[in-house]
Amino acid sequence: MGVLDEAFIQAPEHRPKTHLKHSDDYIVSKEIPTIDLSSLQDPHSDKTALTTEIAEACMRWGFFQVTNHGLSLDLKSRVEKTMADFFSLPLEEKRRVKRDEVNPMGYHDGEHTKNVRDWKEIFDFFLQDSTTVPASTVPEDTELRKLTNPWPQNPSDFRETCQEYAREVEKLAFKLLELISISLGLPGDRFTGYFNDQTSFLRFNHYPPCPNPELALGVGRHADAGVITVLAQDNVGGLQVSRRSDGQWISVKPNPDAFIINIGNCMQVWTNDKYWSAEHRVVVNSSKERFSMPFFLFPSHEVNIEPLEEFITEDNPPCYKKYNWGKFFAARNRSDYKKLQGESIQIDHFKAA
Ligand code: OGA
Ligand code: NI
Repeated sequence: MGVLDEAFIQAPEHRPKTHLKHSDDYIVSKEIPTIDLSSLQDPHSDKTALTTEIAEACMRWGFFQVTNHGLSLDLKSRVEKTMADFFSLPLEEKRRVKRDEVNPMGYHDGEHTKNVRDWKEIFDFFLQDSTTVPASTVPEDTELRKLTNPWPQNPSDFRETCQEYAREVEKLAFKLLELISISLGLPGDRFTGYFNDQTSFLRFNHYPPCPNPELALGVGRHADAGVITVLAQDNVGGLQVSRRSDGQWISVKPNPDAFIINIGNCMQVWTNDKYWSAEHRVVVNSSKERFSMPFFLFPSHEVNIEPLEEFITEDNPPCYKKYNWGKFFAARNRSDYKKLQGESIQIDHFKAA
C-alpha cells in the first residue's frame, strides 16, 4: 500500500501508543479469558461450569478465546493459504471482484472506520450465496434485493475452500450462540428464529506492513454490529480490546489454535446491556503482514432488534429503541464504502432517552 496517505492518519487521541516495531514487543494481557470447549465433546457432561465462564466473560469483556472448539485446524490452514494467495495477486486482478455501491461483497481496499481509512485490504462473502437485503436505507421503502458473491477465478480452489470453511465456522458460531443463550438463563434455541434468512458473512483481512504504524490503524476502533463474531487470526498479533471497566486498550495474545469470540451490538441490545459489545481495533506494524478472518453472525434482514422482554423489569427499563436489522446493515454498508461527512450509524443512535 506504499506510503501513508493523509486519509489513514488517526486523530492524536486515537493513535496507538503501543504501536509495534516488532510484533513481539507489545504488552500482552492474559486477562481476556480463554475458555476450553472440550466438555462439549461429551453430550452428557454438565455444562454449568462452562456457561458460567461464558457469562462472566460476556459481562466483563464481551470477548473471549475458545480452545478445543472442534474446527479442523487443517481446514483453517488451507483457507489461510488460499486467502494469502488471493491477496498476493496483482491489484487489477483483485479489483475484478471488487465490491460496488450495490453489492458490498468482494474485494475492497478503501474501507473507512469512523471516517479514517483502514490500513488493510479485505475480501467479503456471504454465507448464503444469495442473501436478501433491503434495496435502500429509506425506512418506508420495502423493496428487497438478492445479492450473490463475486468469486475470483484464482486461486482455483478459492471458492470451494472458502465455502467449506464457512460451513464449519457457522456450526461453531451456532454452538456458541446456544451456549450464550443458556448462559443468560434462556432456552438454548431462544435466538434461532432470527436467522432463517441470515445475512452473515465472512471477511478476510490482510494488513500489510505499514511505514507509520504510530499514525494509522489496521481497523479503527469499532464494535461489531451483529450478534457474535468468530475470529481466526495468525500469530502476528495486533488486536486490542477496550476493557469494559475503564476503557483501557488491552492486547489479545495471539493463539492461532484458538478462535476469538466477541459479542456484537445486537446481543448487547437484546440483553439490554447485560452482555457487552466491546470496542476493538487493530494495531499494525512496520515489519510483518497479518491476516485474520472474522465470521460475522448476522440476523435476517426483517428482524427488529430491541431489548428482549426477559431482560426488562420496572427497575431495568429498555436502554434502546427498536431498529430494523436490514436497514441498519444497508446504512452501515453505505457509510464504510465512502468517507462520509458526519458519523456513521451506531447503536448509540437508538439509545432510549
Ligand atoms: C473486524 C475486526 C479484528 C482483527 O474485522 O471487524 O475487528 O483482528 N478485525 O482483524
Ligand atoms: Ni471488529
